[in-house]
Amino acid sequence: MNLTQRPRRLRTDGVRPLVRETDLSASDLIAPVFVDATTDERVPIETMPGHERVPVDAAVDRVAEILETGVEAVMLFGVPESKDERGSRAWAEDGVVQEATRRITSETDAYVITDVCLCEYTDHGHCGVLEDAAAEDPRLTVRNDETLDLLGEIAASHAAAGADMVAPSGMIDGMVGAIREALDDQGNTDVPIMSYAAKYESAFYGPFRDAADGAPAFGDRRHYQMDPANAREARREVDLDVEQGADVLMVKPALPYLDIVKEIRESYDHPVAAYNVSGEYAMLHAAAEKGWLDLEAVAYESLLSIKRAGADLILTYFAEDLADEL
Ligand code: PBG
Repeated sequence: MNLTQRPRRLRTDGVRPLVRETDLSASDLIAPVFVDATTDERVPIETMPGHERVPVDAAVDRVAEILETGVEAVMLFGVPESKDERGSRAWAEDGVVQEATRRITSETDAYVITDVCLCEYTDHGHCGVLEDAAAEDPRLTVRNDETLDLLGEIAASHAAAGADMVAPSGMIDGMVGAIREALDDQGNTDVPIMSYAAKYESAFYGPFRDAADGAPAFGDRRHYQMDPANAREARREVDLDVEQGADVLMVKPALPYLDIVKEIRESYDHPVAAYNVSGEYAMLHAAAEKGWLDLEAVAYESLLSIKRAGADLILTYFAEDLADEL
């Protein structure tokens, strides 16, 4: 054979590292942490092996364990002591995320990002203020503009507690602008917003909803989260968030939406984040438990693929375990 092109020449052990296009490092990863005001003990999350809901008193220890692996950033989710119609524990000064944020930022070097949403705090489990007849009428769900004021309050309360960055995840129109205004009014002009800009109405969130106790009591989230069938709409969503001042653009979930990650990477110069969600984690764990997949290998390959598609940062439940290996 007279082959002039032989790609295999660049696959020997010596040269592979030199021609590698994508790298994964611990500093790319953000570890989700669940802080739970209803418990005094660390409670394992059944559907997400290796993860726990921790009481506020254990939040600093939990974050210290994560930092030890080399991961430097955490995303806080809260489970409040009580829920009500408007989700008022979400912006309480002594709320679970506010309290945990205060302690973690004063006692560790972690970069603390907080989830800004109402679904874990409302008794109906939706991400905002409900229309009056929403429980009876499937055409009605969340009141958009009234929800914006609450999201601004939540973000401001997180920033006041010391949050380094806020991450609105509710897919409420105008949320980035409302939060930017609330932070700026408070003098927190330097707190960045990582917007869940293209968040799909996905069945891959199942395990998270158990973990954070945030499943909607009726209906679903399709009136605010995006239709999985749509790609062009993601650009529209991102355009709006960019106009409103988003600093980091997130696509969620990650693996089934790598086309969207790539599209956003190519169309915008902002940092792009991808959320490797609970279902993506749970399915690899379940297969590995059966002995059908090598967990560490598939986890690494998954995150590498998310980076290859164009993500700069990845939120992932694999953060700790993989960082230890990297
Ligand atoms: C809350 C929120 C959800 C997730 C992150 N923030 C749940 C949802 O939208 O139903 C899901 C994360 C995961 O599945 O890992 N708005």
